[in-house]
Amino acid sequence: MSLTAPDPHVVTVDLGTRSYDVHVGAGVRDRLGSVLPEGARRAAVVTQGDIGWTVDSGLEQSVFTVPDGEEAKSLAEVERLCREMSEAGLTRSDVVVAVGGGVVTDVAGFAAAVYHRGMRYVSVPTTLLAQVDAAIGGKTGVNLPEGKNLVGAFWQPHAVLCDTEVLATLPPAEMRSGQGELAKYHFLTGDDLDVLDLTERIAAAVRIKADVVAADEREGGRRAILNYGHTLAHAIETAGRYDLRHGEAVAVGLIYAAEVAARMGRIDTDRVAEHRRVVTGYGLPVRLPAMLDDDDALLALFGRDKKAVDGLTLILDSDRGVEPVVGVPEAVLRDALAAVR
Ligand code: GLY
Repeated sequence: MSLTAPDPHVVTVDLGTRSYDVHVGAGVRDRLGSVLPEGARRAAVVTQGDIGWTVDSGLEQSVFTVPDGEEAKSLAEVERLCREMSEAGLTRSDVVVAVGGGVVTDVAGFAAAVYHRGMRYVSVPTTLLAQVDAAIGGKTGVNLPEGKNLVGAFWQPHAVLCDTEVLATLPPAEMRSGQGELAKYHFLTGDDLDVLDLTERIAAAVRIKADVVAADEREGGRRAILNYGHTLAHAIETAGRYDLRHGEAVAVGLIYAAEVAARMGRIDTDRVAEHRRVVTGYGLPVRLPAMLDDDDALLALFGRDKKAVDGLTLILDSDRGVEPVVGVPEAVLRDALAAVR
């Protein structure tokens, strides 16, 4: 795969009749009017109070605000949103425009998937995390008290505008959260992301994700590699009740996955060192928080990861690249935990 394309800032997610473009670059939110679906008369702009960015669809537009934080990812919030859209008279031929981080794109995308049995939506992700992950690939949904993202739909956007200008005002903690996902992309292909500036790196990450999604939209197999580093990350987030930023948890999870792979003879020590170099290069942690000192509790949480498809499946690196591996010995899982303490 080449990192350069005819226009390095427009990446197509190739899904046949549901294909769409992801625009990456400073000021691309101003392209909104030109990427709206044909025939849309009104826009439902869904956003959060603290975003600080607005968009002009050029259509008659109503603004709907969802509360801040992960708590907004609930069925109650989707119901409230759909009822407000109904009161405003929006129909299937109109368009939802999601402006915000992953919470907004997940909730608004899911509302778009179910309102009037499906309406079109455009995402304008305003965090690094959403630009390189959440807003790309059509996973939409909300949490249940029983777990994250347990209710949702694969519902592809009509277009995505990743405006890098909005990242300049992103709080450092939010930036770190996205950098964990960005670090992940260093290991999914043989491409050298180190040589790229931030905008090009985001575009490269989007291109990698677009290729994976195009090959396996509904996560029948290959798409699972996007969860590289996420088994320990999800356990950390659950055990720590989301105290650690997602990207920081993924960062530790990447190191852990490398340590597991090394113990299974899948990669050598140089490759483990490469993981540490990339993660520390983003200023991200390589060790578990001290409070998470119970290996048994963490291992129990591995088993509850909803991505576990057949016993415990871990995404691990190898000479062939990153791939799902079933049946990693428990002794290896335990021993590798010591390497991230
Ligand atoms: N965030 C993982 C995926 O989109 O499949």
